[in-house]
Amino acid sequence: MSDTPKIKVTIDGQTIEVPNGTTILEAARMIGGELVPPAMCYYKPLAESGGKCRTCLVKVAAGSEKDPRPMPNLMPSCKTMVMDGMVVESSASSQVTEARNGVTEMLLINHPLDCPVCDQAGECKLQDLAFENGLQKTRYEEERREFEPTDIGPYIKLHMNRCIMCYRCVFTANQVTESREHGVLYRGDKAEIGTYIENSLENDFIGNVIDVCPVGALTDKTFRFKSRVWFTAQYDAHRDCDKCCGKVVLHKTADEIIRVSARKNEWDEVEEWICNTCRFDKKSNSDWKIDGVRNNKRKSVQSINKYPLSMPSKNEVLDK
Ligand code: SF4
Ligand code: FES
Repeated sequence: MSDTPKIKVTIDGQTIEVPNGTTILEAARMIGGELVPPAMCYYKPLAESGGKCRTCLVKVAAGSEKDPRPMPNLMPSCKTMVMDGMVVESSASSQVTEARNGVTEMLLINHPLDCPVCDQAGECKLQDLAFENGLQKTRYEEERREFEPTDIGPYIKLHMNRCIMCYRCVFTANQVTESREHGVLYRGDKAEIGTYIENSLENDFIGNVIDVCPVGALTDKTFRFKSRVWFTAQYDAHRDCDKCCGKVVLHKTADEIIRVSARKNEWDEVEEWICNTCRFDKKSNSDWKIDGVRNNKRKSVQSINKYPLSMPSKNEVLDK
């Protein structure tokens, strides 16, 4: 990597040198801060991801040093490579903000207002996006697409109403597990995630689709409705596992492990995939060695709640 020629790109006035072949989104992540575009479908650990949701649009104000003409349309930053001397406008551009607001409104057209009962609330990327870029109320008057929640196997519940068609779960099943039993059926506004013939998703690493899903479309049946995520105390923990790295996050209320998930980085991407055994079957304290309280780097309500080491009592909650 050190031999790779570096090229210069300027994003919202900040210049950085990045290796040739870097996307605008990855260059923005190297700078960090408010200028990093939101990404609902791109997922660095998954090859081919990105280019589906358009939340990461940016304005290319100058294409390169050699050809400084602006690009005529806003570009998806997760799929557009930087060129030497490129100038990009992200959060600083009102045109980009307007486009992201429009994309957010589109993504919410069929999305139910489920947050009060959705297990993903508090870690949902669409909730964050709506908070940053959403309208206060919907302008949509047509009938919404509606599906019944489906059990897709012993561990995973599919709420198709909430799906934004990011394809991350499909790429995860293709690239992380031994076989893929689900996919995108039909096309256009009829497209849906499904197993076609009532199939169940059971292979060893399929639980990872829950972690990559940016919304609450795929949820962990062993955790559903047990707690709001911000009430759980989170710990890094590990065990010797013969199938995966065995490094996880334990979500606890009082001394009970109510959920096991993979560890995620500051971009909300899984650091190492974990197997179903660690995720769904190991819920005893004796199964795990605790490494410490989770230092959550990503932006979420969980970074704000300071990780109580145990659940507050009812009286403590009422006192606040
Ligand atoms: S179920 Fe979740 S991960 Fe799969 S396509 Fe829908 S939103 Fe994306
Ligand atoms: S994150 Fe770039 S198009 Fe979805």
